[in-house]
Amino acid sequence: MKFFIDTANLDEIREANNMGILDGVTTNPSLMAKENIFGKLEVNKHYKQICNIVNGPVSAEVLATDFKGMVAEGELLADLHDNIVVKVPMTGDGIKAIRYFSDRKIRTNCTLVFSAGQALLAAKAGASYVSPFLGRLDDISADGIGLIAQIRRIYSNYEFPTKILAASVRHPMHIVDCAEIGADVMTAPLKAIKQLLNHPLTDKGLEQFLKDAKQL
Ligand code: E4P
Repeated sequence: MKFFIDTANLDEIREANNMGILDGVTTNPSLMAKENIFGKLEVNKHYKQICNIVNGPVSAEVLATDFKGMVAEGELLADLHDNIVVKVPMTGDGIKAIRYFSDRKIRTNCTLVFSAGQALLAAKAGASYVSPFLGRLDDISADGIGLIAQIRRIYSNYEFPTKILAASVRHPMHIVDCAEIGADVMTAPLKAIKQLLNHPLTDKGLEQFLKDAKQL
């Protein structure tokens, strides 16, 4: 399973990249706003900076909601850097835009997916990635991991090449569950990725080894 980081923070992206486990980045308008990146020029500059840190796909979201606007914005984003994947929301116009981009070999990430039917449509339109938001489903007492499993079965039935990008990951067990189910990619905040490192027996064992090593 590929590991993407879900942030627009350059320090966090560098830190994850330096761990040697990072395969890509996802951003969204809220994450960009959190970093105080505003205005087209600043936003585009920021995407380029991210692309220069990570050697892998970087999702950049269109802000337009109509087909023409999405196409115009997406083409500009795709021209910024080879790493850019155009992130398009799951709407009727979004599906049309994904088909348009797919026919022109521009990679897409279909975002805000909350049902298997939506994921099926994204695959039919030729999305490179589909992003089911599992944490937001869990937040409303629905079954986020169950949705990832259902999409996995559907895509495997028909060998759809669309990659399942498990998004809205909140904690390390989400990551482990995604890996067990066979998600192709997961995107998580740095905190959840780093939490995978922790185990009390590792800490205890290391402390003992270091103590015993002093007698050598
Ligand atoms: C995915 O691409 C989104 O940026 C993201 O995972 C949303 O996560 P959230 O529900 O924690 O905002």
